[in-house]
Amino acid sequence: MKTITHISELQENLNAARKNKKRIGLIPTMGALHDGHLSLISAAMQDNDYLVVTIFVNPTQFNNKLDLEKYPRTLESDLNLLSPYPVDIVFAPDETEMYPNNTKRVFDLSPLDSVMEGKHRPGHFSGVAEIVSKLFEITRADSAYFGQKDFQQLSIIRKLARIMELDMQIIGCPIIREKDGLAMSSRNQLLSENEKKVAPLIYKTLVEARKLSSSLNPLEITKFVEKQIANEESMRLEYFEIVDDQKLMTVINWDPDVNNVACIAVHLGEVRLIDNIYFN
Ligand code: PAJ
Repeated sequence: MKTITHISELQENLNAARKNKKRIGLIPTMGALHDGHLSLISAAMQDNDYLVVTIFVNPTQFNNKLDLEKYPRTLESDLNLLSPYPVDIVFAPDETEMYPNNTKRVFDLSPLDSVMEGKHRPGHFSGVAEIVSKLFEITRADSAYFGQKDFQQLSIIRKLARIMELDMQIIGCPIIREKDGLAMSSRNQLLSENEKKVAPLIYKTLVEARKLSSSLNPLEITKFVEKQIANEESMRLEYFEIVDDQKLMTVINWDPDVNNVACIAVHLGEVRLIDNIYFN
């Protein structure tokens, strides 16, 4: 496993791999790795014989300066976690390598970027699209792996790949959870012991909401979720939305032809957590 910080060196290695007919899998991350990230690597191992994990805390996708400052950076332990895996390259560039000048890439991600995360974190998805488009272009991987934990991000990246007309498969991987149901996230490291105890309420509420969907309509379910979260004084609900999994439009009435996904964002103390669940 080589750790590389320069694009030119990364591309030299990838060109050599391509010459040797290797199938290249790309796993983009912001580090502070956990089992959720490792599950993407396990999926990539199945389909590829050359793996590139990228670790870069991308400043352009943070709409909040404090969030960017607080974001955990743990490169050394990340490399240790990766060492048992057949990862060929860890690409861990610095900011000037990825953003050498002030030019900004803009993609038309509408309508996917105007709801939920897009609405509450202005500019977030243009930053995600900017960095992911660069990683796609630099690596020209055969497949790239993303988690359903960031459901809206995955939809947007699929759209980005279509816009870029890439010959790259975008693979979505299931959400990995703690035993108590909490979706794994690098931000979980920032939770206090007490907050860790209450955090599983988020997934528990989503599971109850799914059960209720056989008897309640979407609005009634939304009210139920709002009440459950309001009952926990350390939590503040930012949004709960039931959307269709294609256009991410709010679902008003159940339609058997539509796949419904319930998405939630909650502030727990200083930490913002997101999660989602398919209803069908
Ligand atoms: P990051 O939050 O580090 O996540 C990297 C990848 O791991 C994403 O595809 C995310 O959906 C996936 N992931 C995180 N937690 C997961 C879990 N519990 N189960 C399954 N997959 C999980 O998402 C980003 O970084 C960035 O926005 C990035 C795409 C790297 C662009 O900067």
